Amino acid sequence: MDIKTTKRLNNGVEIPVFGLGVFKSANGPETEQAVLWALEAGYRHIDTAAVYGNEESVGNAIKKSGIPRNEIFLTTKLWNEDMRKHRQLKAFEESLSRLQLDYVDLYLIHWPVKNVYLESWAVMEDIYRSGRAKSIGVSNFKVSHMNDLLANSNVVPAVNQMEFNPSMQDYDIYNLCREKGIAFEAWSPLGCGKYTSDSEIGEIGAKYNKTAVQTILRWILQKDMIVFPKSVNRGRIIENADIFDFELSAEDCAKIDAMNRNIRTGADPDTFTF
Ligand SMILES: NC(=O)c1ccc[n+]([C@@H]2O[C@H](COP(=O)([O-])OP(=O)(O)OC[C@H]3O[C@@H](n4cnc5c(N)ncnc54)[C@H](OP(=O)(O)O)[C@@H]3O)[C@@H](O)[C@H]2O)c1
Repeated sequence: MDIKTTKRLNNGVEIPVFGLGVFKSANGPETEQAVLWALEAGYRHIDTAAVYGNEESVGNAIKKSGIPRNEIFLTTKLWNEDMRKHRQLKAFEESLSRLQLDYVDLYLIHWPVKNVYLESWAVMEDIYRSGRAKSIGVSNFKVSHMNDLLANSNVVPAVNQMEFNPSMQDYDIYNLCREKGIAFEAWSPLGCGKYTSDSEIGEIGAKYNKTAVQTILRWILQKDMIVFPKSVNRGRIIENADIFDFELSAEDCAKIDAMNRNIRTGADPDTFTF
């Protein structure tokens, strides 16, 4: 496995299992520079969203990098308010325009907004059929949302992007996704920064000469998940990718598994209010 290793999605598309997240990276030089540093370090997968407000800078960086478009995997997401206003297609076209791209590799429903996620999925299926999203998927879909979607749609999502980190490990949805051939993406792998200096995980990592952050990212990859830590710092962008030359033992993975408390960093998909 290395930084460019891919996993085959249920529609045959290859997705790099490691990438860069840009949530809370400011539009402008901060995001543009972070994406350029990541691409320079070998990253080939960027995860953004309309609501992050930085699609324009992500697009600028992709263009400036000079890397052929088909060598970069770009994900963006449909925002909740655009679903509530039934302007899903328009929102997608606005994302493409801000990204300055004619297609995205993966388009996700960001949150399972009650009463409109099924309607939104039908629009996503149309976008998929048009070729302007090479794959479509969902995010923050718990078991109930996923079962509802699977029973009322034609295209099985290629991925489900869920919060997953040492204190938040939901194996009900993880196992359902595996059973249905839906790839699992882990968001906030570092608990949005909470675990960057965790002493227990740091001790495990020290055995491999790795930091707590590298240890967590490797633990996630060894579960066959896809992960894209966020950083706008060049050194940390490089550090986060230096996880392909070691393997955690089953015993060490179990120690991190045992840290699960089912405590979320972000909102609960059943009760979110945005
Ligand atoms: N679908 C969803 O609803 C959803 C929700 C949240 C996130 N996401 C996606 O998942 C990605 C990752 O999650 P996240 O951004 O919430 O949080 P995260 O990746 O768990 O943590 C990011 C935080 O950790 C810091 N950090 C990163 N690497 C570090 C290192 N090596 N040492 C010390 N600190 C480090 C970053 O600061 P610096 O930037 O200063 O390095 C930042 O404060 C997002 O960017 C986004 O793409 C999706």
